[in-house]
Amino acid sequence: MKVLIVYYSMYGHVHKMAEAVAEGAKEVDGTEVLLRRVPETLSEDVLEKMGAVEAQKALSHVPVCTVDELASADAVIFGTPTRFGNMCGQMRQFLDATGQLWAKGALVGKVGSVFTSSNTQHGGQESTILSFHITLLHHGFVIVGLPYTFQGQMRVDEVTGGSPYGASTIAGGSGERMPSDNELDGARFQGKHVASIAARMNR
Ligand SMILES: Cc1cc2nc3c(=O)[nH]c(=O)nc-3n(C[C@H](O)[C@H](O)[C@H](O)COP(=O)(O)O)c2cc1C
Repeated sequence: MKVLIVYYSMYGHVHKMAEAVAEGAKEVDGTEVLLRRVPETLSEDVLEKMGAVEAQKALSHVPVCTVDELASADAVIFGTPTRFGNMCGQMRQFLDATGQLWAKGALVGKVGSVFTSSNTQHGGQESTILSFHITLLHHGFVIVGLPYTFQGQMRVDEVTGGSPYGASTIAGGSGERMPSDNELDGARFQGKHVASIAARMNR
C-alpha cells in the first residue's frame, strides 16, 4: 500500500507538516510512504527577491514528483501554502499536467487529502483546502479530511491551525512561526487516517 505525499513549500512550513504527515502514515502497517516536491516554476531571480533561496536549498534533497507517481499510489496527500486563499501556482501547474491521467481515469477511487499553511489565522486555509478538493473530485479521488476525533482542533487555549478539512499551520506575518506541536499532531493524525482508510479500501 503506497501513500504519496506531494507538496510545495517555499520557506519550509509545509515541508515540516509533510514530514509529520509521513510519520503518521508510516504508523499503518504495510504502508510505503513517498515524500515528493512539485517542480519549482519561479526563476532564481524571483526566489531571491522573495528571500526563499536558502530555504529552497535546504529542501532540495526531496525528490521532485512526476505525474506518473500519482497513478502508482493508493492514496495521495497534497500539501500547499495558501496563495490568496487558493493553492500555490507551482501545485496548480503540476496538476494541470495531469490531463492524461484524467483521460484514462487513472486516479479514480484513490484516496485524496489536503493540508496547508498560511501566514494569518483567517487568511484562507479552509478555502485553499476546499477549492483544492474540486480538482481532486474531477479526478475521482475519494476525499478524506481531518475528523474531529483529532481533538486538537477543538483547542482555543492557543493559536492553532487544523480544521475538519485538513491539517494546517499558521506561519505568522513574516513566516517566523514554525508548526506547533498541536499542528504537527494534526498532520500526523491526517497521515495515519488517510493510510488506514486506503489500507481498508485495498482489502
Ligand atoms: C503570493 C503570495 C500569496 C499569499 N497569500 C496568502 C493568503 O492569502 N493568506 C495568508 O494568510 N498567507 C498568504 N501568503 C503567505 C503564505 O501562505 C506563506 O508564506 C506560506 O504558508 C508559508 O509556507 P511555506 O513556508 O511552506 O511556503 C501568501 C504568500 C505569497 C508569496
